[in-house]
Amino acid sequence: MKIAMGADHGGFRRKEALKAYLEEKGHTVVDVGTDSTESVDYPEFGKKAAQLVASGECERGIVICGSGIGIGIAANKVKGIRCAMVSEPYSAALCRRHNDANMISMGARTIGGDMTKEIADVFLEEPFEGGRHIRRVEAIEEEVWEK
Ligand code: RB5
Repeated sequence: MKIAMGADHGGFRRKEALKAYLEEKGHTVVDVGTDSTESVDYPEFGKKAAQLVASGECERGIVICGSGIGIGIAANKVKGIRCAMVSEPYSAALCRRHNDANMISMGARTIGGDMTKEIADVFLEEPFEGGRHIRRVEAIEEEVWEK
């Protein structure tokens, strides 16, 4: 599978480790950065990874920052992105089964490296259930909610 990956300085090392793990498993990773632990702003990397997924260039996206929160919020600003912040495998499965999530965000400061890999495996393998969940996902995609 072709996967977009991005991280800020807080998620850089974890991104590198997860990228190596996924590539070893045969996936293709498109890495939008960042490329070091030098301080950067997470919105840029959430946006770039999300645009690769929304455009169809990549099938899924995985983004990592310190908490997993900011970079996921940024990714969700791109139309067509359903990015779930995930800290354990069951939520990774549910975000695929029920929400057809096309991206996940994780926190390098909140979960360990092995958990990151386990979550990524579940996210990439689990199918969308369809059925009653289709209209719910479509409602998110089609409607614009004014403030
Ligand atoms: C960076 O210090 C930190 O704020 C960022 O990685 C992330 O946790 C933001 O949500």
